[in-house]
This record gives sequence, C-alpha cells and structure tokens, in this order.
Amino acid sequence: MSETKLGYSSYQIALHWIIAALVLFQLFFGESMTTVVDAAEDRAAVSPADQTLGSAHYWVGISILVLVVARLIMRLVSGAPKPADRGPGWMQVAARVSHGLFYLLLLATPFVGLLAFYAGDPWGDIHSLNKPVFIILISTHASAALFHQYWLRDGTLRRMLSSGR
Ligand code: HEM
Ligand code: HEM
Repeated sequence: MSETKLGYSSYQIALHWIIAALVLFQLFFGESMTTVVDAAEDRAAVSPADQTLGSAHYWVGISILVLVVARLIMRLVSGAPKPADRGPGWMQVAARVSHGLFYLLLLATPFVGLLAFYAGDPWGDIHSLNKPVFIILISTHASAALFHQYWLRDGTLRRMLSSGR
C-alpha cells in the first residue's frame, strides 16, 4: 500500500479511534453472544441484558467490517505516513507487520463471526480464538505507540491525534 510523507487525514484518524472503540466493545461484551448462541442450541432462556448485548454484537461487528473496508479504500487512495525512523530498523518492520496483521484480523474476525452465527462450529471456536490474538496485538500496539511518543519522542501518537494535512 502506498506511503506518503504527509500525516494521516482527519477521516483516517476518526476511523482509527471509532474502530478501536467498537473493537473494545466487542471484546468486553462478546461473551453475551456466546451465551445467546449456546442458549439457542439448548432451547434455554437468556437474560434481557444478554439478548440486547448479543444483538449489539451482531450489528457492531458488521459496522466494523464496513468501516474497515472504507478505511482500507481510503488508505489505498490517500496513503499513510512512513513509520517513524527513530529507533532500530526492526521496529519499522514490526510496525508494518503489526498494522498488516491488524487489518487482516479486522476483516477476518467479523467474517468468521458471520460464519459462526449462520453455520455454527467450528467457526464459533475459530472466532472465539481471535479474542486473545486481538488482546495481545492491541496491548503491544498501544505500548509501542506510547514508547514512541514518550521515550523516542518522535511524535508517533500525535499524528494519530491530529491531521498532518
Ligand atoms: C471485529 C469484530 C468482532 C469481534 C472483535 C468479536 C469478538 C467476539 C468475542 C470476544 C466473542 C466471545 C468469545 C468467547 O465467548 O470467549 C464473540 C462471540 C461470537 N461472535 Fe463475535 N466478534 C466480532 C464480530 C462478530 C460478527 C460480525 C458476528 C456475526 C454477525 C459475530 C458473531 C459471534 C458469534 C456467533 C459468537 C459466539 C461464538 C460461539 O461461541 O459459538 N461476531 N465474538
Ligand atoms: C482496537 C484497538 C486498535 C486497533 C484495531 C488499531 C489499529 C491500528 C492500525 C491498523 C494502524 C495502522 C494505520 C495505517 O497506517 O493504516 C494503527 C496506527 C496507529 N495506532 Fe492504533 N489501533 C488500536 C488502538 C490504539 C491505541 C489504544 C493507541 C494509543 C495508545 C493507538 C495508536 C496508534 C498510533 C499512534 C498509530 C500510528 C502509527 C504510525 O503512524 O506508525 N492505537 N492502529
């Protein structure tokens, strides 16, 4: 994908934080969907809270899929800044690899979620496995952003907060 020296656009920044918030919602409340699916199999009742959070999981997940496709199209059209060049070279490789992994996961998780919803297992198990993968990636990513901003002081976090264009 193309890389420009300019910063992220305000649309890219808005989408980054909206998608991040929606993904955190899915990770925190996803188990309600598991409860709803398990209850449907056992013909058991579910609490109104699980029912509501289960429906929210469905629609928030589909919104993430649509927003990520929009974000990728925007990135193809307007590019992204090069990773900061302070610090060792492997860090820039790690940034590219982890961003690529994020996009892969952001597309695959809702897609497999749809398969889990309509076709059941093994897709449900595969979908649930994405939870720890997301948690590890988000923790590493957020720590790296803070390390760049406050240790290397290369302005990495700032460019995801205000537009460089
Ligand atoms: C990025 C988007 C998504 C994330 C991060 C996500 C995350 C999760 C999490 C954390 C769980 C609970 C796993 C557990 O109980 O340990 C779950 C369960 C589930 N999600 Fe999602 N989800 C997403 C999108 C979707 C979408 C779009 C659908 C379908 C429309 C969906 C359908 C399901 C189903 C059916 C389950 C129950 C799986 C089972 O145990 O059989 N998810 N999801
Ligand atoms: C679910 C949570 C998150 C997801 C899915 C996510 C995803 C991403 C992705 C895919 C990129 C690459 C953007 C591109 O070049 O197209 C990115 C960049 C970035 N993210 Fe996140 N992010 C999340 C949370 C966070 C958090 C919590 C922080 C801050 C503590 C953060 C700070 C940044 C920064 C500073 C960049 C720019 C890096 C650079 O320009 O080299 N992100 N994020």
